[in-house]
Amino acid sequence: MIVTTSGRYNEHALQKAKDIAMRYKLYFVMRKKLSVKEIKERYIDDVLVVGNDEMSITRLSDNDPVKYHPNFSMVRAKRLLNNDNDALADAAELKPGMSFLDCTMGLAADSVIASLTVGTSGQVTALEQSFILYLLAKEGLASYDTNIKMLNDAMRAIETVHQNHTDYLEKLPDNSFDIVYFDPMFDEEINDSQSLRLITEVTHTEILSQKTIDEAKRVAAKKIVLKDHFRSSRFEQFGFMQQVRKTSKVHYGIIRTDFEVD
Ligand SMILES: C[S@@+](CC[C@H](N)C(=O)[O-])C[C@H]1O[C@@H](n2cnc3c(N)ncnc32)[C@H](O)[C@@H]1O
Repeated sequence: MIVTTSGRYNEHALQKAKDIAMRYKLYFVMRKKLSVKEIKERYIDDVLVVGNDEMSITRLSDNDPVKYHPNFSMVRAKRLLNNDNDALADAAELKPGMSFLDCTMGLAADSVIASLTVGTSGQVTALEQSFILYLLAKEGLASYDTNIKMLNDAMRAIETVHQNHTDYLEKLPDNSFDIVYFDPMFDEEINDSQSLRLITEVTHTEILSQKTIDEAKRVAAKKIVLKDHFRSSRFEQFGFMQQVRKTSKVHYGIIRTDFEVD
């Protein structure tokens, strides 16, 4: 991947682009008057563009940039801060001080909500296998300013890991997270999910396996939570108790691990 700045950039964006290139061992090029298309053609690679306020990646094979933006989580976060409910926080029964392992970070909307709910005494770790999404989410969480301090703090507190979730789970001790969470790509297209459409092209698509769920059962001290399409066969396949939400196509499934006796 090539790193450059946006066409118009300030000193901060330039330094940030160079810093990202160094930290991720990527190649930095000065933008000069080149278009992203010209950079792609010259270097035959994906291009990460660091702007003054945002960051995007345009893949070699595609012209639509993928951007980090906390828009979706911001709406949910504002509701939470107004003491309204959030479906994930409710399904996982998230409380301050709890630990939450997000096995499918994507652009981290759910992780942000979890982090906001578990607070500074809790811990959220988020795993992502796609390097493009990992980089965008990690850098976005670290630097995006929402103008809401609690939300910024919640974003900064998330630990992000670029790894396959099964490999990560395998190395964790028993009961090391209260909640282990999966939000796999839906089998069926969810047309009203803006964030999902945006990232579909760059996601790692791996079918959730029994081995992964078995590892999650060992790692989760309280619950495994699955977010999926209401018609998904995964709820039944893996033994999740499906929580029916009449007004949404997205349902949550729960496997409790806090009272399992073998
Ligand atoms: C539907 S998206 C998650 C969206 C996320 N919950 C959010 O709020 O933005 C699923 C994500 O899981 C990632 N993924 C799929 N299989 C994975 C695996 N085995 N390990 C780690 N990440 C994986 C995909 O690359 C994708 O980004």
